[in-house]
Amino acid sequence: MNVTAVVLAAGSGQRVGSDIPKQFLPLAGRPMITLSLAAFEACKQLQAVVVALPPGGGAAEPPLEEFAKVGARVAGGSSRQGSLAQALAHLPESTEAVLVHDAARPLLGQRIIEDLLAALDDTCDGVIPAIPIEDTIKKVSEDRLVEQELDRRGVWRVQTPQLFRRAALEDSLAKAIQSGMESTDCSQMLTGAGYRVRVVEGDPLNFKVTRAVDLWLAEQVLAARPEGGG
Ligand code: C5P
Repeated sequence: MNVTAVVLAAGSGQRVGSDIPKQFLPLAGRPMITLSLAAFEACKQLQAVVVALPPGGGAAEPPLEEFAKVGARVAGGSSRQGSLAQALAHLPESTEAVLVHDAARPLLGQRIIEDLLAALDDTCDGVIPAIPIEDTIKKVSEDRLVEQELDRRGVWRVQTPQLFRRAALEDSLAKAIQSGMESTDCSQMLTGAGYRVRVVEGDPLNFKVTRAVDLWLAEQVLAARPEGGG
């Protein structure tokens, strides 16, 4: 199967509290986005990578020439879904499946990529990594009163990368745009369009860097990890 990775790195990432987008902040001495690109470069089953970057570029954007698989760098949109649309318009023609990843998850390992690729069979149109919720879940009002106790059984939290058949992803995106639906998760578009999405075990260390404390945590994980591990 011919697989292209799409790396979404066009967000402004303001919650982390820095002037430059979080995906370009240094982690273990390298811009965060390069950790994801290195993981895809190392995966033999991936043929190409398309990267969505902030429109207008900027001084913070790292050079990506060392990554031979990065074929296209495209200007992202004003939303994650918009950036995805831009990237999908630049897929190599031979692409049969797309691995969509957030640059804000720099700690992905080869195990997740391999599990996703192995699980995409006749029984599904997409595969996503997820982790069952372990904490008790509550709905809380805007003034912070507990409104409702939610049942956590069967509730999973979802990560990237996510793998989809190209035709199913393109069709779901077109339908989402047509109906004015904006989602922060690609698999939500697929299930909304009636496609089957399977779940494989995610990795608790593949967390999304959102706040300053996540940057610190990611540094600790990388310092403890053997070279190339994960
Ligand atoms: O903001 P958040 O962490 O949810 O963004 C998830 C991913 O989507 C990030 O890697 C971010 O760079 C990307 N994104 C994008 N284009 C946008 C907004 C977010 O590529 N307009």
